[in-house]
Amino acid sequence: MSVYGVIMAGGKGERLWPASTPARPKPFLPLGGEGKSLIQATYDRVLPLTGRERLYVVTNATLAPRVKATLGLADSQILVEPQGRNTAPAIGLAALAVSLADPEGVMIVLPADHLIEDEESFRRALEAAVEAAQEGHLVTLGIEPSCPATGYGYIQRGKLFGSSHGHDIFKVKRFTEKPDEDTARRFLSEGGYYWNSGIFVWRAARILEEIDRFLPKLSQALKGLAGLWGRPGWEAALRKSWQEVEAISIDYGVMERAEDVVVVPASFGWHDLGDWQAVWEVLPKDGTGVAARGEHLGVDTARALIWARPGKTVATLGVSDVAIVDTQEALLVADMKRSQKVRELAQQARPAPPKWEKLLELDTSGMLEVVASFPDQCRKGLELGEEADVPPELSGFSRVLCVGMGGSGITGDLLGRLLSVPVISCRGYRVPSYIGEETLLVGVSYSGNTEETLSAFEEGLSRTRRALAISSGGKLRELCASRKIPWIGIPGGYQPRAALGYLLFTLLSVLRRLGAAHLELEEALEVLAGQAKALGPASPGNRAQAIAQALVGGVPLIYGTSGNTGPVAFRWKTQINENAKQPAFWAELPELCHNEIVGWELAERVLPEGRVVFLRTGHDHPRVQARIEILKEVLLRRGLSYLEVEGEGKSEAAQLFSLLYLGDWVSVYLALLNGVDPTPVRPIQELKDRLARL
Ligand code: F6R
Repeated sequence: MSVYGVIMAGGKGERLWPASTPARPKPFLPLGGEGKSLIQATYDRVLPLTGRERLYVVTNATLAPRVKATLGLADSQILVEPQGRNTAPAIGLAALAVSLADPEGVMIVLPADHLIEDEESFRRALEAAVEAAQEGHLVTLGIEPSCPATGYGYIQRGKLFGSSHGHDIFKVKRFTEKPDEDTARRFLSEGGYYWNSGIFVWRAARILEEIDRFLPKLSQALKGLAGLWGRPGWEAALRKSWQEVEAISIDYGVMERAEDVVVVPASFGWHDLGDWQAVWEVLPKDGTGVAARGEHLGVDTARALIWARPGKTVATLGVSDVAIVDTQEALLVADMKRSQKVRELAQQARPAPPKWEKLLELDTSGMLEVVASFPDQCRKGLELGEEADVPPELSGFSRVLCVGMGGSGITGDLLGRLLSVPVISCRGYRVPSYIGEETLLVGVSYSGNTEETLSAFEEGLSRTRRALAISSGGKLRELCASRKIPWIGIPGGYQPRAALGYLLFTLLSVLRRLGAAHLELEEALEVLAGQAKALGPASPGNRAQAIAQALVGGVPLIYGTSGNTGPVAFRWKTQINENAKQPAFWAELPELCHNEIVGWELAERVLPEGRVVFLRTGHDHPRVQARIEILKEVLLRRGLSYLEVEGEGKSEAAQLFSLLYLGDWVSVYLALLNGVDPTPVRPIQELKDRLARL
């Protein structure tokens, strides 16, 4: 009979707020001793009894990546509940996993957020419990109470039942839900009562029988799932079942009703760290009763819990009995004795859903409408390119040099991803020295007045006569006219970055006519049209809005991949800068694995607001995909969060453009969440004006 460990890792992140949050609840706080998280300490503690292969963690989809990053378990060992249904369904699911692996298996159920001081005696108590469980009993660990706590359930022991590993084992007479203080006092003076630790041991098959007896709906669901374990359809079936099963605790659902429940009394220094005061009690303190995590400067400070964030000192003067918790999300200053009430603050602090209707009013120049018209722009661009007057003598080039800046400059990068010939992007006053007649020079400036573009284009003309330019007018048009260079006009009146459909697709169709084949675009155009509807303000709660909400207040670090989504990552960055007026950065895989990842080492201190966004398509090299999987774990361990954003459609172009377009929407919604009008780009204009006066 093998012994399995089942760690229950969930939590709303309310009681130790703001250090704990729904995305990083108590099990992940470094309270397990030696800087370990509580879940890591739980894992390490039970490991000698089970071995690594016989450990499961039950958690939710949000926390699963964090569990994986922390414990490094295989996916099959992480049981993801589609929604929290209290402990009975979670335990039922784990019992199913154990019983399928080993019909005789005994399972130890452990909450992931307890602190245990004496690990040896913890394991001895569990060994006693395992022995009783092997005989078929339902076993619970009861903690010798040290005070009349009202925050725990109590177990009243009955007759002595036996003993094992130096522990007496008693029949359970009764479970009592959290009592009032008088009742708790009476329990303590009467004796024979224990705190309910939530640690259970039983044979998996036995608890499934009890579930069948007392919770038939859950049992039915588990039986239905048994045949699908590890097979296609598992997730959908689990999702469906979990919508139907009753949310109920194992104590209430089974333990209080079952016969043959025994308790192993234990005292191994058990703490469930239910509030900041409880945390203060267990942390090491200085002579004045100050427990500090991080940098603290104190004068006349006593009995205080200080939780400073990395890189920032908390200084206190003349305070006592206080909990100060400084995090990225909030700064809590609380009377320590009332820290039970922190939960109320945490609930109030939960961000209210944005009032999009009101926020839309910020878009006074109509950027949303322009973004919505992007698919039309692309189609019109293709037509403009068909009609453009382009002399066939231009063909025969072996590469393209695009000169352009900002919202126009990205055209070159994207062309490089789409064309069959190499494309060099030039962003500066000069063109590379190796450019000659084999190169097609393309000047791209939406306004036609950007000085770097004009300078580089003119220099390029001295190297090659194969040239054309695109703009809505301006000096570029005049230059082309005077030098008899083909010029393609596109409609004016847009912000350059908002005219990408015209710039890119017009050039694409011109270049196709000149013999440079490009990726098939039809599916991409269809996908874009679908996105225009799905991501617009008429679809509240859409994907772009959700991503914008995840990025607000952060520093987006957009990660694309070399030869694929790199230019799209750059576009996300620039759109977030210009529309949302927010700092954002980008990098490419696999290159970033050779430098940027080292910079993550201090990220929690210097860039705690960093929010990585992985742009993902099915067209990346498998090793690049494998790298992303590893990076996700590294990021979580470094205290940074990430999002993964998948492209739509099948073809390379569809996935690429759908990601690009999604980023455009995200940047505009982010602008609204930031309380700014997406359209104006005053700093760019100011700089251009000042330079013009020089
Ligand atoms: C403004 C924008 C800028 C411009 C850049 C170059 O919307 O996107 O990045 O694109 O200042 O100007 P143009 O595109 O006119 O050559």
